[in-house]
Parts: sequence; C-alpha cells; structure tokens
Amino acid sequence: MKKIAVMTSGGDAPGMNAAIRAVVRYAVRNDIQVLGIQRGYAGLLDEDFIEMDFASVGGIMEKGGTILRSSRCPEFVRKETREEAAKILAKHGVEGLIVIGGEGSLHGAMFLEEEQKVPVVGIPGTIDNDIAMTDMSIGVDTCLNTVVDAIQKLKDTASSHERAFIVEVMGRSSGYIATVAGLVTGAEAIVIPEIPVNYEALGNKILKERERGKINCIVVVAEGAASAYTVARHLEHRIGYETRITILGHIQRGGSPTAFDRLLASRMGVAAVEFLKRGTSYVMTALQGGKIVPVKLDEVLKQKKSLNMELVELTALLS
Ligand code: F6P
Repeated sequence: MKKIAVMTSGGDAPGMNAAIRAVVRYAVRNDIQVLGIQRGYAGLLDEDFIEMDFASVGGIMEKGGTILRSSRCPEFVRKETREEAAKILAKHGVEGLIVIGGEGSLHGAMFLEEEQKVPVVGIPGTIDNDIAMTDMSIGVDTCLNTVVDAIQKLKDTASSHERAFIVEVMGRSSGYIATVAGLVTGAEAIVIPEIPVNYEALGNKILKERERGKINCIVVVAEGAASAYTVARHLEHRIGYETRITILGHIQRGGSPTAFDRLLASRMGVAAVEFLKRGTSYVMTALQGGKIVPVKLDEVLKQKKSLNMELVELTALLS
C-alpha cells in the first residue's frame, strides 16, 4: 500500500484531530503517503485534497473540531455519486480510505467498498455513542465532561433560586449522553428516547424530592425524546414552582478532547492504518474490552446500539 486518504465526515467530535494525527504519522512511518480529504464526502467529490506529512499534523491533538473540516453530504446516498467518488480516488492513486465519523458516514464508507471495491476502514467518531459493537466512540467522553460541567454550574444557580432546570442535551436517537450526565450529576430525572416519559410520575418524583428538602432540581432531556420546552410545559403546572430551560446545543461538540478521547483516537488511528496495510478492510476500529479490534462494517451498521439499561436504573436508584 503506497497511498491512502483520510477524511472526517458528519457531525464533528472532539478527538477527530488526534485520530487524523495518528493516521498520518503511523502511515508516514510505514512509507505510506496520506491524502487529506477536506469537508468529508462533499470535499471528495470536489477533489478538495491536501497532501499530509508528519509536520502537517503537529500541534493538532489538543484542538477541538477537525482540521480537515466536515460536512453532511446527502448526495452520497446515490450510487452514481459513490461511483464518481471511487473514480476520483482511483485517479489520485488512493488505495485505501479511512473515514472518521458517525453512522451516516460509516454507511457511505461501507457502500464505497461493497459496490465500488474501494478498501475502507471506519473510525467511530460521534458524541452520541450510538455506534454498535464499540464500547465508545471518539468524542463521547469530552462531550460528557462538557455537559457535566454545564449542569454543575446550573445546579449552583438552581439552588440559589430554588428552581427546576430542564437541560436539553444532544442524542438524536440515543439517550446515552442524557443518562450518563444525569447519573454523574445526581439529576432528579432523565427523559430519553428509549423509555416513554410519564409526566405524572416525573412530577410526583420531583415534588417528593422537594418535600425531602432538596432545593434544586435538574431534569436532563435527550433531544431525541422531547424538547426541553415540552418537558417544562408538562412539569411546570404539576410541580408548581419556577422552571428554567437550558439547551446546551453545539457547545457539546466543541472543546479540547479529554485524555481518554486523545488516547482512544490515537489507538484507533494507528489501528486503521495497520488494518489497511494488512489487507483488512470493510471494517471499523472498535473498542472492546480495552482492546482495539476490527469489526465488520455491515455487522456494525445493521445493529442499533442499545443503551445499557443498568445505567438508567442506577440513575433512578441514586438520585
Ligand atoms: O450526531 C451527532 C450530533 O451532534 C447529534 O447529537 C445531533 O442531533 C446532530 O449531530 C446535530 O447535527 P448538525 O450539526 O447537523 O445540526
């Protein structure tokens, strides 16, 4: 293998730069040239490429976002578009492609190999932690730390004013962020897509806490379950005291990656190159039991990662 390409695609996640750095440096050390594709699949179609070398990835590990930039590329669902992409890669002598991104991006990669025979390796990068067969995706840990920091601050003001805060976090189809953030900040309740919400029970629980003497109340809502406004509307008249809404939004996707994310990204970046080098493609790098292993892309993508219900129970048990 003489030349590979790397891209970041879809929603960015802290740690993507550390993964790019690892891919480039490990490839260069193995005499493999690396082409950086800018702006994900959209940039691939526009041939928006840069040559990358050891120095070009210096000082990026601690940076949030992605130096290659990212995009969502709806056209890539079309087979003809993927055919075009494969021709462009062949024209540039690219023998293997590493795609760092979430579910949609990994689907694009899977089809590129399945139909167009481009050897691909995926690296899971998404704050949602909704990719199956890997314990963690790059960016999840940093996102959680950002959310926890924000909730801690909200708790301060919630206590001063004896208010309830409804905090909306990301997670289109997964309640992972809401569950873990709720668990580790001692939130009163979580509202997640995996469990239908019962507003009456939720209101009663909050009232009970208040009777017990608790002066703040935090409800963490995953965006995929309901909007914070809806939850507040349902709760306000039931609990009878002031509520405030905070939507954390894209702040959850930024910031310098944690040590955990840098480490995971570095290990996965190296593994991705190593897999391509050994002729192992049509796989995603996965963290399983502390090890980085290849898992088949079609296996990953036909499953929906289910939320560990023990975490949900713990949240309820300890709050
Ligand atoms: O998939 C990652 C994610 O951050 C989701 O949690 C969120 O719903 C979505 O991306 C937001 O996407 P966009 O940046 O396109 O608004």
